Amino acid sequence: MAQTTLFSRTQIDQRVAEMGKQISADLAGNEVIALCVLKGAVFFCTDLVRSMSIDVAMDFIQISSYGNQKYSSGVVTILKEPQLDMKGKHVLIVEDIIDSGLSMREVFNYIESRGAAKVKTATFLDKPKARKVPFHADYVGFSIEPQFVIGYGLDFAEKYRNIPEVQVLSD
Ligand code: IMP
Ligand code: MG
Repeated sequence: MAQTTLFSRTQIDQRVAEMGKQISADLAGNEVIALCVLKGAVFFCTDLVRSMSIDVAMDFIQISSYGNQKYSSGVVTILKEPQLDMKGKHVLIVEDIIDSGLSMREVFNYIESRGAAKVKTATFLDKPKARKVPFHADYVGFSIEPQFVIGYGLDFAEKYRNIPEVQVLSD
């Protein structure tokens, strides 16, 4: 398998800092919860909240993953529920990558059903051409072509999450 760099550490740091600044400006004055979608978004989320200048609580949700496949089964179930009370809060769902859109649609609807005042979404990467259901994120780090990427939290069969940059994985 070949691995080629798509986004360097410098590019990632710059873009995440910009996103944090923008989100802070947009959400200032509200009670904000950053809801990290485990496991892939952990790296992005911890960088993002540290680049934000407003108070932000953190919580975590985990949904079923691809298993060892490069393609989604299309079935999404919640494996770990958030602990914080979402009622009246502005919840910022923080995701690593949006592909088919099925995961984000599921998480979005679930958080709305928990009584959040407003639900916003931030994704580090977006593959708009890969959608199976329409989904538009409020904040997107980088839009990419429908290719399989690893690193900065993104895995293939639980491997490569700890690579600091983003790489394309091809066979
Ligand atoms: P979706 O439900 O098809 O939008 O899938 C989103 C989830 O699939 C992401 O949160 C990732 O965990 C995983 N995923 C999608 N594309 C990639 C990729 O290129 N590399 C690694 N994981 C991916
Ligand atoms: Mg994910």
